[in-house]
Amino acid sequence: MKKLILGLFIVLLPALGLAAGPSGPLDTVAVDHTNKASLQRGVALFSNYCLGCHSMEYGRYGRIADDLDIPRPLYEENLIFTGVRIGELIEIGMDKNQAAAWFGNAPPDLTLVGRLRGEDWLYSYFRAFYKDDTRPLGVNNAVFANVGMPHVLVDMQGLCAVPPRIGTAPSVDPLSGNVRNADICPEWAIEGSMEPAEFNAAMYDLTNFLSYMGDPVKVERERLGILVLIFIAIFFIFAYLLNREYWKDVH
Ligand code: HEC
Repeated sequence: MKKLILGLFIVLLPALGLAAGPSGPLDTVAVDHTNKASLQRGVALFSNYCLGCHSMEYGRYGRIADDLDIPRPLYEENLIFTGVRIGELIEIGMDKNQAAAWFGNAPPDLTLVGRLRGEDWLYSYFRAFYKDDTRPLGVNNAVFANVGMPHVLVDMQGLCAVPPRIGTAPSVDPLSGNVRNADICPEWAIEGSMEPAEFNAAMYDLTNFLSYMGDPVKVERERLGILVLIFIAIFFIFAYLLNREYWKDVH
């Protein structure tokens, strides 16, 4: 019995590893890989704003186009800027050593970042940039302290003057009925072109896309999983009947 309990404990150990995620409060987000429109907006954002620095070298352009129902010629025309063929891996030309000299750290490959950091972290990180004149690029990040990445979406979001409130849900003041913390930033140093809610929606799409890249077969896997369970359930009936038939004369 003791051995059984020990065995069970060892089997469950990896689950503890998952729970020990990054520290600090995060905003939560529920990604949906079946929402193709969201994923399409996400890949457009990624291609326009991120691909200059970040590769996705374990993925191919063509796979994304097929999975997200984007016709290949359309994808090639609008979302590949380096002139490579659509069947190629998503690599970039930036030299890692040089990039490390520019930013302090080289921009990492982002194919699996959704698996590494988790969706909540990504969604929070994208919205957590703020003005900090002590940093080389004039910005810092409330989720990733002293990050080397510039705030590339400053035109869209604007720049918060103070660390944004990540992980604090809006609450209603019981006396006045006003909503507190509806917006993560109380004061903007630079105004963006988007309303905060609009920017959140765009960051949801970007997070959704990065999450999909880390696990492109998720939808298919879950669909197959249900079919397999149905098969096992039906198979059980026949296995049971057969078993009864075999043992009928023995008992
Ligand atoms: C000008 C280059 C540049 C651009 C453009 C850029 N990044 Fe980055 N990014 C970096 C650098 C440099 C780092 C590493 C920061 C560090 O480690 O301090 C980084 C780090 C990250 C990380 C954290 C990775 C990790 O796990 O440590 C994520 C996620 C990320 N970038 C996503 C994006 C997304 C999404 C976009 C497009 C909206 C983008 N980046 C655009 C340079 C860039």
